[in-house]
Amino acid sequence: MTEILDLGAHGADFARDPYPMYAELRARGPVHRARTPDGREVWLVVGYEEARTALADPRLSKDPRTLLGDDVGQGAAALANMLESDPPHHTRLRKLVTREFTPRRVEALRPRVQATTDSLLDAMLAAPDGRADLVEALAFPLPMTVICELLGVPPRDAARLHDWSSAIIAPSGPAAEGAALRAIATYFIGLIEDKRVGPGGDLMSALVKITDEEGDRLSESELLGVAFLLLIAGHETTLNQLTNGVRALLEHPDQLAALRADPSLIDNAVEEMLRYDGPLKSATDRFTTEPIDIGGTLVPARQQVLVALSAANHAAEKFDDPERFDIRREARGHVTFGHGLHYCVGAPLARMELQIAVRALLDRCPGLALDAVVDELPWIDSVLMRGTRALPVRWTVAP
Ligand code: HEM
Repeated sequence: MTEILDLGAHGADFARDPYPMYAELRARGPVHRARTPDGREVWLVVGYEEARTALADPRLSKDPRTLLGDDVGQGAAALANMLESDPPHHTRLRKLVTREFTPRRVEALRPRVQATTDSLLDAMLAAPDGRADLVEALAFPLPMTVICELLGVPPRDAARLHDWSSAIIAPSGPAAEGAALRAIATYFIGLIEDKRVGPGGDLMSALVKITDEEGDRLSESELLGVAFLLLIAGHETTLNQLTNGVRALLEHPDQLAALRADPSLIDNAVEEMLRYDGPLKSATDRFTTEPIDIGGTLVPARQQVLVALSAANHAAEKFDDPERFDIRREARGHVTFGHGLHYCVGAPLARMELQIAVRALLDRCPGLALDAVVDELPWIDSVLMRGTRALPVRWTVAP
């Protein structure tokens, strides 16, 4: 019988640094059976080619009903969510959303991303002791503000959404998380109604209005699903990527100095941050619709598959000396934004936010350094997410 790897048994060590275990697993083979801390048995894909192949394999379904039948949780059933659907439903939802989530709309957000970053850094730099928690000061509020802007959430409501979102990202318990989810759903239902009555230039207004050539449009629950997905998919990921990327830079003073000396390296540095330490250890759940051979392992039908993006991004078959953080390397080809049909819709926006934020941070904070022992940071204990709930930093305060 195949050995089952108990991911929960590795607990805090795995949260702090999953890469040694991924390296060990890759050395043994590209696909492993594993048990998640919440007791689910899954197949973990750690090889690079196998990860890409699995992400693009139409026989791997994203619809939880493949495994659970129609008895999925209330939340999942209520949300007609792109990330949890297969063609043709997925094709239709994605087409309607990407028609409006255009490069032009993303580019139009650039001045707002810059202005938001600047004002958050103004507030952070006002600290007389030259110390702050980067998560609280920048990494949490920046993507949140950008998504509010994108969705057309009025500025007066952003603080409420911010609080509910924190209650989901760092829940104090299932009751608080449930209450926050319900509060967001109620809020979005109201927002959709407002956009119907008085549309603006934002994405939500556009999605409420659209009707494609075939006369197709998003239903009320689909609109709610899209708003939720953009909030959740676009917020916690960008937050943790900014924290992981800045931490990597501060842990590698030679790379930090190289980027300070040549700011034109920023785009490549962000690409390497994405590869080196992404915010999603694994892609979201996939389910086999029939027995499938993945990298020489036959995975039976109706099984759950987790594609370990962070493991694939550290595969030596694709990246030379993969454990080395090198802002000049060719980092493209990483799978941090996924691959295939569900490739991240928000990738250009996330890249833009990261480039602007890291550059502004370095420009404005001379002597920026970590103000904590990395091993003692509050690491997020999750099968999917990777990051820390805080990142204390300090900088040189002018006399
Ligand atoms: C660094 C930041 C981000 C990372 C690393 C990231 C990563 C990903 C990944 C890996 C997937 C595919 C998941 C899978 O196949 O299981 C995905 C899908 C998605 N992401 Fe992102 N994402 C980021 C930011 C954003 C932003 C800013 C938005 C929008 C505001 C966004 C919206 C979406 C949506 C809508 C999907 C679903 C696409 C589909 O199912 O067709 N993401 N993202």
